[in-house]
Amino acid sequence: MKFEIKDRDAAGRICKLSTKHGTIITPTILPVINPNKMLITPKEMKNLFGTEIVITNSYIIFKDKKLKKIALAKGVHKLIEFNGSIMTDSGTFQSYVYGDIKIDPIEIVEFQRDIGSDIGTILDVFSTPDQKKTEVEKIVKETINRAKKSVKLKGDMALACTVQGSIYSDIRQKCAKQLSKIDSDFFPIGGVVPLMENQRYSDLVRCIIYSKKGLNPSKPVHLFGAGHPLIFPLAVALGCDFFDSSAYVKYANDERFLFPWGTEKLENLNELPCSCPICSKYSANELRKIDKKIKTIEIAKHNLYVTYLELKKIRNAIVNGNLWELVEKRANSNPYLLEALKELRKKENKKFLEQFEPTCKKKALFYTGINTIHRPDLFRIQQRLFTRYFEKYDTTIVFPEGKKPFSQFYSEKISRIFKRNCEINILIDSSLGPVPLELDEMYPFAQSIFPELIDLETEKYIIKIFDDFIKNKNTICWIGPETLKEFKSNKNDCIDFDILRVSSTADMQFGRGAGKSILNGNIRILKSKKTGKIRNIFCNEKHVLSMRAEDGMFTLKLDGAKLLHKSFKYPKLRVVVDDDAALFIKDGKSVFSKFVIECDPELRPFDECLIVDKNDELIAVGRCLLNRIEMLSFNYGMAVKTREASN
Ligand code: GUN
Ligand code: ZN
Repeated sequence: MKFEIKDRDAAGRICKLSTKHGTIITPTILPVINPNKMLITPKEMKNLFGTEIVITNSYIIFKDKKLKKIALAKGVHKLIEFNGSIMTDSGTFQSYVYGDIKIDPIEIVEFQRDIGSDIGTILDVFSTPDQKKTEVEKIVKETINRAKKSVKLKGDMALACTVQGSIYSDIRQKCAKQLSKIDSDFFPIGGVVPLMENQRYSDLVRCIIYSKKGLNPSKPVHLFGAGHPLIFPLAVALGCDFFDSSAYVKYANDERFLFPWGTEKLENLNELPCSCPICSKYSANELRKIDKKIKTIEIAKHNLYVTYLELKKIRNAIVNGNLWELVEKRANSNPYLLEALKELRKKENKKFLEQFEPTCKKKALFYTGINTIHRPDLFRIQQRLFTRYFEKYDTTIVFPEGKKPFSQFYSEKISRIFKRNCEINILIDSSLGPVPLELDEMYPFAQSIFPELIDLETEKYIIKIFDDFIKNKNTICWIGPETLKEFKSNKNDCIDFDILRVSSTADMQFGRGAGKSILNGNIRILKSKKTGKIRNIFCNEKHVLSMRAEDGMFTLKLDGAKLLHKSFKYPKLRVVVDDDAALFIKDGKSVFSKFVIECDPELRPFDECLIVDKNDELIAVGRCLLNRIEMLSFNYGMAVKTREASN
């Protein structure tokens, strides 16, 4: 089974999974098919919604003589008449719901293999939120034992090994880690249905994060039993690739409509607030009056339309780099979900999520409320200000937030400072926190839209960061031109704001000292005639950097890479590749994960990087698609897109 990342945002990803029966683009849903009662057949689903994968239950097939016979003779694909990919579950959930039912953990895995399931599931032991820790530890131990025995029997079926551990973060993480050590192909996060039924989304967030922390990042992750689209954006942003839904039928049976913002009962709908083919065909009144069975099917279809539509929106948000915005918008429509986002304000969770967060985005960052300021990319930029940026002078002058770009808004005042060559740093007290003036065009400082009045919590948080940033610094506030009087002008050393911008941006993007290394020579800066913005930077007439108009960050040129390679010690900024791959990369081919042997742990998705061989010879410059742990785990797909090779 091949699984590779194609695009990403937050800790979410768009991946391509290939099974024996085709390829699937994730994140997606596996509609639950009950082989005894197919309200909508898989074939019909494929036609209506483009369904590429479904899930059915091997235990239901196993215990029904007739179904078992057909499945063993003709295969599960024939049984449910679907030629796409089929995942099977094992009966764990039935054991949990109905109590004492007899299933042999070995027999059920062999059965799934024998009926030709593409992805089978071990008979994990369901852990519930109310169990004691010692009980959960036993359950997890048994689940891991079963997984170890099951992988030996899987044949050419991919095997899903479920992470259990109830609400105990440490047990979840340990279970995930243990399961990642054995030959499993797919990781459902199990035991979470009771949490979702009771809208315990904060607990759910912890379950996902701690499972993810222990899991091999190169394998698909499935949130078992999650079928309500309300939870999808958040779960995807935390790294879930698959969901499964019987919700579409269960809710339809009760005449309930799924929506991204929640659930509505038909009896409470005056009009159908949806434009899917079903809701376009009937008025609410007409639908109420039709035959019960047809009504259930029609509502189930609406439920699937809405579910697939939300997944399309999520995948679009990943491509556009605004998944957190979608997460926050959805959370703003449900108080339990909103509460759950508080989990993401914890520093340990921010640190974990930051590793997967792309460093540049196509779209501006939109404020949606109190959670925006806690996004991992804002956490990162604040951290980098503390660790990578450094002030050139002893004194800093602080301006209040004006209009963007700040350097234009304050151009008159700034020119006074520069005319006198005052040795002063200029800092903006912005709603994103401190912004050194020379970084005002860099993402997200320029590419963020905040309302004039922000909420008090954000304001308090920002004040704290600002105060920390100027602590022990000599700062003064601008009160008019007289502020500058006490500063002697420096006649010898002329301050060049463009060079300052290039230098500080390079430090923020590549690490402290990068600006100095790249700008060590005769510098020429080329600007756009149309916008006046910096475009290309030459050092001793060699093109070293290009500044991107969309995010004010650099594309690293090979000559710039050579300078960074010389001044930054191994492994900083490096992706180390196998000798076999080096030849191809020198030809301009991209770097595939399986050829990466080491990588700078500080590199993040979409960062510029130096591609080197085992002897640390620079062979190319490129853009990472993955972070270090991913590069070292994935066997398929691209790790770095090569831009310029040294040959
Ligand atoms: N379906 C819903 N939850 C679970 C679970 O925890 N394990 C399995 N195998 N199936 C499920
Ligand atoms: Zn509809």
